[in-house]
Amino acid sequence: MYAPIWAWSNWASYRILLIVFLVSPLRGGWRRLGPFICHSSLVLPFLEFISVPVPNPIPMAYLRMNPQPVKTSNSLFNLLPKRSSLRPARVRCSSSSSPTRHYAITLLPGDGIGPEVVSVAKKVLQRAGSVEGIHFDFQEMPMGGAALDLTGVPLPKETLEAARSSDAVLLGAIGGYKWDKNEKHVKPETGLLQLREGLKVFANLRPASVLPQLVDASTLKKEVAEGVDLMVVRELTGGIYFGKPRGFSTNDNGEEIGFNTEVYASHEIDRIARVAFETARKRRGKLCSVDKANVLEASMLWRRRVTEIALEYPDIELTHMYVDNASMQLVRFPKQFDVIVTNNIFGDILSDEASMITGSIGMLPSASLGENGPGLFEPIHGSAPDIAGQDKANPLATILSAAMLLKYGLGEQDAAERIETAVLNTLDRGFRTGDIYSDGNIMVGCTEMGEQVLRAVDSEAVAVSR
Ligand SMILES: NC(=O)c1ccc[n+]([C@@H]2O[C@H](COP(=O)([O-])OP(=O)(O)OC[C@H]3O[C@@H](n4cnc5c(N)ncnc54)[C@H](O)[C@@H]3O)[C@@H](O)[C@H]2O)c1
Repeated sequence: MYAPIWAWSNWASYRILLIVFLVSPLRGGWRRLGPFICHSSLVLPFLEFISVPVPNPIPMAYLRMNPQPVKTSNSLFNLLPKRSSLRPARVRCSSSSSPTRHYAITLLPGDGIGPEVVSVAKKVLQRAGSVEGIHFDFQEMPMGGAALDLTGVPLPKETLEAARSSDAVLLGAIGGYKWDKNEKHVKPETGLLQLREGLKVFANLRPASVLPQLVDASTLKKEVAEGVDLMVVRELTGGIYFGKPRGFSTNDNGEEIGFNTEVYASHEIDRIARVAFETARKRRGKLCSVDKANVLEASMLWRRRVTEIALEYPDIELTHMYVDNASMQLVRFPKQFDVIVTNNIFGDILSDEASMITGSIGMLPSASLGENGPGLFEPIHGSAPDIAGQDKANPLATILSAAMLLKYGLGEQDAAERIETAVLNTLDRGFRTGDIYSDGNIMVGCTEMGEQVLRAVDSEAVAVSR
């Protein structure tokens, strides 16, 4: 019985398009997706996809046994447990007398509060690196509005080249009032989409943890929010945001319609599923795959492929959940989740919902990973033009993104944990920026918060347990 399904799914992976017609009354709800679906350059991978055979995905087992001779090591390797001796070394140059590991990091400060938070995170990376025997070569490049002002484009090719040839990329944020009315191709946000596409980062990892120190910042009851520690793994380069056909038309009644296509090829599902299983393996070993397999064919294929990939991970407990139920469970009993894996559109919505459980946008990091090449690490917040240049920004989301860069981008678990512990220690000592301030704590600005984290990185106090 499996053979025909398997054959069908292969065939489907090249050609089948599942068309979801979104009639005009629904269009307003899709406006927020605009930045993801508007840029013409995003069409290219899709055209490639439908016009040439997609090579069989390289199984993770093969990757483990046959490290690819790429300039930068495979991001997926860095999701392997630290104990794995097959994990490739990311050491680009080292002398036999020195344990120092060297990495090239591209910094993209961007706009608004971006330069403020990136400058702080850079110092924290440097300090944690020096304690752990890591040396970073930083290269700062323009991106977003800053690049528009300088070069006329939101992502200069030099910036993309620098990013591609580095070991990891740390981005602040892009955008601002100044460029809001620009045409689409010269908007800062277009540069961000081009960067994600250029780096081929298909897996977006967004942790949402309620820190004990900030549990009161959550809008959920304390007993519901306390102890929440989950990770949403979102497919980032496929699905309805990229699927064709799409557009506006007229139906048989002469009424205007808008339509988009939800489409997934099996290799796209397999590779995101493997990232999610590997992530779960590094955490508590539980994976919940979220889909709408009771209605959508693309979700049926999704569920079938995730179930198949699960055979490679007998140590991981896999469950499936429909997206409507998942959105309820996230606010009812979020502690049940460890890792959630889902498609592009469900992930967009659920990761925002999950992040709000923590109560503060200034605290949340993210990582976007591809099969090869450097990962992209950035806070989930934007450029916050309302507080830019006032030393009011919370730098912790960017500092925690730097920790993700170490953990998921470079496989430097110890340095990552040093930073995470330093952040907790700083909060334990009562330091708060305005966005997370509550009575009885010490209000500080962006720079001072960074100084306090640096102190904690250095200090014995990093031994404070979570
Ligand atoms: N990845 C990105 O670079 C990214 C993401 C979202 C929005 N944007 C852009 O950012 C600009 C502003 O967008 P927005 O206002 O909708 O979202 P935003 O995240 O920039 O700001 C929302 C609110 O949160 C506050 N805030 C955000 N980050 C903070 C931090 N680190 N510390 C303290 N407070 C913080 C802001 O002051 C603001 O009140 C727009 O141009 C938008 O396109 C960029």
